[in-house]
Amino acid sequence: MSEDLSTLRQEIENTPLDAEEAIDAFRIRFLSRKQGVVTALMKRIPEIAPEDRKAYGQDVNALKQRVEERLEGAQQALASGPSAGGGRIDVTLPGRPVPEGSLHPLTETMDLIVHVFTSYGFQIAEGTEVEDDWHNFTALNFPDDHPARDMQDTFFIEEGKTLLRTHTSPVQIRVMKSQEPPVRVIVPGRVYRNEAISYKSYCLFHQVEGLYVDKDVTMADLKQILHAFARTLFGHDVRMRFRPSFFPFTEPSAEVDIWWQDPDLPGGGRWLEILGCGMVDPNVLEAVNVDPEVYTGYAFGMGVERIAMLRYGIDDIRTLYENDVRFLKQFTS
Ligand code: PHE
Repeated sequence: MSEDLSTLRQEIENTPLDAEEAIDAFRIRFLSRKQGVVTALMKRIPEIAPEDRKAYGQDVNALKQRVEERLEGAQQALASGPSAGGGRIDVTLPGRPVPEGSLHPLTETMDLIVHVFTSYGFQIAEGTEVEDDWHNFTALNFPDDHPARDMQDTFFIEEGKTLLRTHTSPVQIRVMKSQEPPVRVIVPGRVYRNEAISYKSYCLFHQVEGLYVDKDVTMADLKQILHAFARTLFGHDVRMRFRPSFFPFTEPSAEVDIWWQDPDLPGGGRWLEILGCGMVDPNVLEAVNVDPEVYTGYAFGMGVERIAMLRYGIDDIRTLYENDVRFLKQFTS
């Protein structure tokens, strides 16, 4: 019998109590009122020789007390965190490094552009990437069979009907159809063109469209906002120019170039186009039932890839789509 007790004492000392389940199992094994070890030991008292009973009873009580002490200790250790778990975790070990992620340079550039314009009071609008011919072309004053449609090699889903939008300008139409002027929105989004893939063009890319329609909106407002934008993105002494251009949905139209300083280039740099813009063509306003005699507006559309490439000195657009971690890791801040 006394040997029995010493085996149990060893078990009490050696059972690891480092988890909730182990502690529960230990408590049930020793202290359960019906089947617990302590109860079983107590039940044996009548079998013990009367002269030994007192000592036996004391031993069983001591054992029970030790069980309770261990339970209490284990509960406290568990409550005060894993590092206190009976010295089983080496807190001096160096941590496992977690690889640091970062925003994709395109996401970062897009977020920045959106941030600049929302701080000027523009709202964010979104359309759909699958668009219909009317929103993508017709309502934007592209006449049927007009060569302008060739400017944008289109991925048609159904020839002449549905397509992957070739620019974010159809969202101008969607916004003006759903909202009376004044309208002041930017449209960040993805667009698709069936172009030969090279270092400077890809079959999909991103644009941020801007549209402001109200009474008395002028070309001066357009120039002012784009100048402020370029200064925020490229620095206070950025050089930019408006170059006359053509888009079916704006009149007059312009493209904006910024001067890219590069001492290795002849002339010390070159002009790089970052966006197209202009005053919303009256035909477009009429297509969405806005009176061009009352309202005027400006619109612009910029290429996010182009701007990201300028900001980060990336020389091949395809690297933005390959998801090569060696490339992406360079943008971990
Ligand atoms: N949608 C034109 C493009 O993709 C850009 C643009 C937008 C031009 C708005 C003028 C006004 O090239």
